[in-house]
Amino acid sequence: MKSILYVAGEGLPFIKSGGLADVIGSLPKALARRGYDVRIVLPLYQKIIDKHYDKLERIGTVPIHSGWINQPATYYKSEVEGVIYYFIEHRDYFERSELYGYPDDGERFAFFQRAALDLLYVVDWFPEIIHSHDWHTGMIPLMSKVCYGGDDRYQRIKHAYTIHNLAFQGNFPPEVLGQCLGIDYYFYDNGSVRFDGGISFMKSGIVFADKVTTVSHTYAQEILTPEFGERLEEVLRFRREDLWGIVNGIDTDVWNPKTDKLIAKNYDARSFISGKKANKKALQEEMGLEVRDDVLLMGMVTRLTRQKGVTMITERLNEIMGLDIQFVILGTGETDAENAFKWLESAYKGKAVYYAGYNEELAHRIYAGSDLFLMPSMYEPCGISQLISMRYGTLPLVRETGGLKDTVSPYNQYTGEGNGFSFYSKNPDDMMYILRWATDIYYNNQPAWKKLVRNAFNTDVSWGHSADLYERLYWSM
Ligand code: GLC
Repeated sequence: MKSILYVAGEGLPFIKSGGLADVIGSLPKALARRGYDVRIVLPLYQKIIDKHYDKLERIGTVPIHSGWINQPATYYKSEVEGVIYYFIEHRDYFERSELYGYPDDGERFAFFQRAALDLLYVVDWFPEIIHSHDWHTGMIPLMSKVCYGGDDRYQRIKHAYTIHNLAFQGNFPPEVLGQCLGIDYYFYDNGSVRFDGGISFMKSGIVFADKVTTVSHTYAQEILTPEFGERLEEVLRFRREDLWGIVNGIDTDVWNPKTDKLIAKNYDARSFISGKKANKKALQEEMGLEVRDDVLLMGMVTRLTRQKGVTMITERLNEIMGLDIQFVILGTGETDAENAFKWLESAYKGKAVYYAGYNEELAHRIYAGSDLFLMPSMYEPCGISQLISMRYGTLPLVRETGGLKDTVSPYNQYTGEGNGFSFYSKNPDDMMYILRWATDIYYNNQPAWKKLVRNAFNTDVSWGHSADLYERLYWSM
């Protein structure tokens, strides 16, 4: 049996700030069902203590030495659906209001990574593979090679490293290498972890992992180019032979309109007409929109950042609202975007509504109650919302980039094929053109619309096929 340790900065059901947490909360579970011994290690953040402390079992405390750091770590564990989660407790490093974004992130995550590797001898379990994710864990492959040099049990481990978003790289001053990670400056001098006169955790992961993956086939190709490569495209091209693109799935137990307890009425591919109608009505009532079952309701659940293409939307709000459309937005982020949506709500009372915050339960109801889901990302390594939308019979309207391109096939008016709508250029005129076209189909060609919804339901958004590919990846190592 294959044994794998996942090391990550966040993971459901314990803690989430972005899509990474969805993957950590669902892929290991899918692999555990296939007989793998999969375990996960996370920092014990304040938010986990607040919500889940009663589920944690204390393992023990050991001193962690990493460069100049000499601090104790206390280990905890918890089991969820066949997957063991380990947690690393350190009051000063992790018991803060946020997960990341502190000036000492380099030191905090150096400690985390070293403690994650020390976990193996603390619990006396040495997996065949360690699978690390994003910048928070990019030093793991190198650390496990050079910081445990004499220990065969570490040297035998193979390393997979997954890039969920190349834009967040974990770049720190060079001293972090010696002082916090306890790694020789040789690796800075020879260029392998050096980036911009400092060090890059992300780059180190790319250079030293046995296999590098990212979360869609298209993004795996895009990041080899200067447009998407975030100045790491050359290093990535160097690892091209070992770079795999595997599209994410979603947790189809959590996201299931047939059993979802958070929505007004359950439905599936056979009962979606009445199901979506009831959910639309409930959403309109909850959000203070005009209650109309014939209107096209468009939803958006997102971080309001440049990545998600929000400026393309905020530039065209009046034009969008000129269509016979209701618009619900859930999310927080850049101030300009938040202000634009606040303005939208006040200017179009009963027609547009903005919920400034994150609310997982409301998100379920938006997916269930909307007809169309808008996601015109500038770049998108994979994207999770378009997958959830399809699972709820809500047609995604996306820009053709990264995972959006791989998972949404645009409506073809000649064959009736497709499970959504898409456009390619970064020009908002093109987005508006497709939005007008989608609106026209919704109002004037319901048979075609319903066929698209059926196709969306039939799209496999589970981990099934992608878990096969991860298995193949692990065996190839
Ligand atoms: C990041 C990416 C997103 C991807 C997620 C999970 O949040 O921006 O596209 O779906 O990671 O891999």
